[in-house]
Amino acid sequence: IPRAGVIGNPISHSLSPKLHSYWLNRYGIEGAYTALQVTEDKLESTLCDLPGKGFIGANVTLPHKVSVLQFADQVTDRATLIGAANTLIFKQDGRIFADNTDGYGFMASLRQGAPDWDPKAGPAAIFGAGGAARAIIVALADAGVPEIILANRTRAKAEALRADFGARVSIVDWVQADKMLEDANTVINTTSLGMTGAQEFKVSLDTLSPKAVVTDIVYTPLQTPFLIAAAERGCTTVDGLGMLLHQGVPGFERWFGQRPEVDEATRAAVL
Ligand code: ATR
Repeated sequence: IPRAGVIGNPISHSLSPKLHSYWLNRYGIEGAYTALQVTEDKLESTLCDLPGKGFIGANVTLPHKVSVLQFADQVTDRATLIGAANTLIFKQDGRIFADNTDGYGFMASLRQGAPDWDPKAGPAAIFGAGGAARAIIVALADAGVPEIILANRTRAKAEALRADFGARVSIVDWVQADKMLEDANTVINTTSLGMTGAQEFKVSLDTLSPKAVVTDIVYTPLQTPFLIAAAERGCTTVDGLGMLLHQGVPGFERWFGQRPEVDEATRAAVL
């Protein structure tokens, strides 16, 4: 049977095995999807061994999303631009194809959760400048968002993103991050703040328009204090689970030949 899995370390917390197993079952596809705990020193040998074990592809998660690029034979433009891959296809001739579907997942989730969202209606304000922010910036720029404003605790990382992604990106100091909300049409928290066990995400939403769409990539809890505060202002909010589910769609389709649905039943299956 065709196999796929998710490569990471640690990996026990990953929701991907539940997600893909649910889809395999739902569509009556004979296949398997498992969690693969792989340390950095074993990444290359694991990638060599998997096709021989029946694997047709894999997802890649922390800490391997960047380093996996060096072992891929073909990398999509967007994975190159983002500097990380999360979806691999093992070709029959042994070559590895690498893509990044995080930006796709973010955008599909946003459009599903906020169908009236208009990318061109105004700037996007992003908190954070890590790997997730990179994928989201690329997706927002592709969608036609006119201006992307970043605030990150470590300003140098935001500066590096501006150097990579160009003129549409501007930077606001972390301590003045609420300033970027004044004209924002889209607001995204890509930091780990607000996650269960992490520090609280403290930002004043006093200047935020109720017309703005607000999203968080954190999904434990689903309703972060940040999303709750935005909803109280009247904003449409989109939780972080949708991005995770949607980023799995292109891989599943490539591996198993069926484009899977992300709906309430899918959400319930992984929670
Ligand atoms: P991911 O791939 O999920 O984006 P990451 O690359 O580790 O993960 O990025 C984490 C982001 O959360 C970064 O923007 C980080 O800010 P720094 O660049 O200053 O480290 C942000 N972050 C994490 N903990 C934070 C905290 N306590 N306060 C503010 N920002 C925080």
